[in-house]
Amino acid sequence: MSGHGPAIPMTARKSGPLAGVAEVPGDKSISHRALILGALSVGETRITGLLEGQDVLDTASAMRAFGAEVTQHGPGDWTVQGVGVGGFAEPDRVIDCGNSGTGVRLIMGAMATTDLTATFTGDASLVKRPMGRVTDPLALFGARAYGREGGRLPMTVVGAAQPVPVRYTLPMPSAQVKSAVLLAGLNAPGQTVVVEPEPTRDHTERMLRGFGAELTVDDTDEGRVITLTGQPELTGQSVAVPRDPSSAAFPVCAALMVQDSNILVPGVSQNPTRNGIFLTLQDMGADLVMENPREEGGEPVADLRVRFGPLKGIAVPPERAASMIDEYPILAALAATAEGVTVMAGIKELRVKESDRIDAMARGLEACGVRVEETEDSLTVYGMAQVPGGATVESRLDHRIAMAFLCLGMVSRDPITVDDASPIATSFPVFEPLMTGLGARIERV
Ligand code: S3P
Repeated sequence: MSGHGPAIPMTARKSGPLAGVAEVPGDKSISHRALILGALSVGETRITGLLEGQDVLDTASAMRAFGAEVTQHGPGDWTVQGVGVGGFAEPDRVIDCGNSGTGVRLIMGAMATTDLTATFTGDASLVKRPMGRVTDPLALFGARAYGREGGRLPMTVVGAAQPVPVRYTLPMPSAQVKSAVLLAGLNAPGQTVVVEPEPTRDHTERMLRGFGAELTVDDTDEGRVITLTGQPELTGQSVAVPRDPSSAAFPVCAALMVQDSNILVPGVSQNPTRNGIFLTLQDMGADLVMENPREEGGEPVADLRVRFGPLKGIAVPPERAASMIDEYPILAALAATAEGVTVMAGIKELRVKESDRIDAMARGLEACGVRVEETEDSLTVYGMAQVPGGATVESRLDHRIAMAFLCLGMVSRDPITVDDASPIATSFPVFEPLMTGLGARIERV
């Protein structure tokens, strides 16, 4: 869906206490991977709790284009009839990954060691994002990529007819790059090794094992060394997708900001490679309790009980960045309402997300009357007792920028309008009814 529909401006205004149960949708990262690994398996994969956001729907249609049968049976309930490792067919159309960096990068990896050619594109945000970070390691397997200057989409990838295994050290902390290399390694003979100096989300490793691959992880002085034995027979599985901690962060932070709020967000993944935001909120003094911790679908989950209370600014440990990389926009909004200064450092990867998120948050917060300081890889936010608001903020085709400012508008003195909230549908299609159901005053204008 590279075509972008009409803009949907939305306004958030000062809201009463948020209360109730917030059932956020399934995890986006796990949803993409369930579809892709299902397509690379033999037999049927049944997925429950699949996120039906546009990013994931685009990956589902891409898997169909590569020959898998992907069927929706009911809300969140899907099956994939896979074609097996190395079994992808050559697509007869351009693969359009819409807004999704995860979709395009993982699918490029998954096809790069099969003897076929595919052309990829995406929306106005995705075509600006760097693909060289995946096509460089994929070239080591023998794949070739032809794209626009700077390694941008649209891009054609010619898969390696005789792939060789690879040893690759990640030059940046990126689960997408790691996953692309591991998925390419599936159809290479021998062992593919990825070294990750800084740990990133490990869903690909967990799920590859779950689907029957031989994969080991060793913690060494170099970092996490992941070794995958190529050409396994993956077999279809049942995947229960836990609720997305990155989506949960929005109602959680909104409840922490809006006076007298008290909400429950059940069944949220607490995977240690994803839970940095919750640790950070607790460091800021949040009344946030993980109730009923348990395991679901191979991931640790808990019910989050969140109560409003005063927060203080902190220096967020930079080594935590990878485990909360998608949560900096909402954290920056929350920091504007905390007492004191919040320093977020070691976050230069935010510059190459759906938008340049450091710039998008800095400009948006300034427009709302908040003092910020920015460097190439950090953002500092000065908290204030009352955020003035009263601005229209650009979402820049970025779902998380849109949601962050709508949450801030629930506590600012004057309403905050987001120029286009339509990108929210990529990851959190029920954001609007879910938040209004809790008592948020957000509406289309
Ligand atoms: C993701 C990895 C992260 C994250 C993105 C999802 C994934 O991107 O920001 O939303 O599912 O692997 P990077 O790999 O670019 O850090």
